Amino acid sequence: MATAFDPIGIFDSGLGGLSVVQAIRSLLPAENLLYVADTAHAPYGGRPGAFIRDRALTLASFLQAQEAKALVVACNTATAAAAETLRARFALPVIAMEPAVKLAAAATRCNVVGVLATEGTLASARFAGLLARFAGDVRVVTRPAPDLVRLVERGEIDGAEAIRRVEAHVNYLLHQGSDTIVLGCTHYPHLRPLIERAAGSDVAIIDTGPAVARQLRARLAELALLRPSSGRGMLRIWTSAAVESARAVSRRLIRAQHGALVVEALPAHGAAPPSPVRRQS
Ligand code: DGL
Repeated sequence: MATAFDPIGIFDSGLGGLSVVQAIRSLLPAENLLYVADTAHAPYGGRPGAFIRDRALTLASFLQAQEAKALVVACNTATAAAAETLRARFALPVIAMEPAVKLAAAATRCNVVGVLATEGTLASARFAGLLARFAGDVRVVTRPAPDLVRLVERGEIDGAEAIRRVEAHVNYLLHQGSDTIVLGCTHYPHLRPLIERAAGSDVAIIDTGPAVARQLRARLAELALLRPSSGRGMLRIWTSAAVESARAVSRRLIRAQHGALVVEALPAHGAAPPSPVRRQS
């Protein structure tokens, strides 16, 4: 039986989903957060759905073994491939995310919206369903940006190469007439300052992280699972790749928002480790 003192489990293909961790941390400062970066298998964007589903099940089992009270899929690509499977297999509340097409269609003034996302998300039935339901007469221009995922995984969120690559994607969307850009991959918010600079102040940038955090808070409140503490929760990170570089990149991505950063190796194949996180009150 889950308790309010249990942690929240979050995962992504790599460290990009730390943008969602930041949104959750801002809204729910007292919660203990567990984050799994499946870096050894990143990027997910070009992988088959069955592979991503398999990884999602493995990572979710790992987080459940850590006594997570809720699961956050901090990845649009994994949501498209695995959200329904996770909901069917786990009794935990599963909060997932998808590109904010509905919001963008409501925000655009010139009826053209740009969506930056992975190939997997853009090719998914889930995305096609979003367009069918919410795009209406708004033209949605899509643009896969796998190179931006790789930049963020290396912690390269500024510098000449990042600026050049961001400009190429943003310019494409602007030339198509977009006045609203959806960040449909959790890696991209780490590049938001560059995206904003390339797009200019007349273009709205939409990131789903804060909405996911609000949905998580609502779900936990409904289930009486919000951690009742004024203290600061901890963040513990596991990676399926090298720990040292994950630690260095995590520090760059989350900057000073968290105190001590615990980064560990994900046990082989994501199997449950011997000791779950100790509950703290
Ligand atoms: N961060 C992920 C997403 O939101 C996946 C990026 C990738 O691994 O390709 O889609």
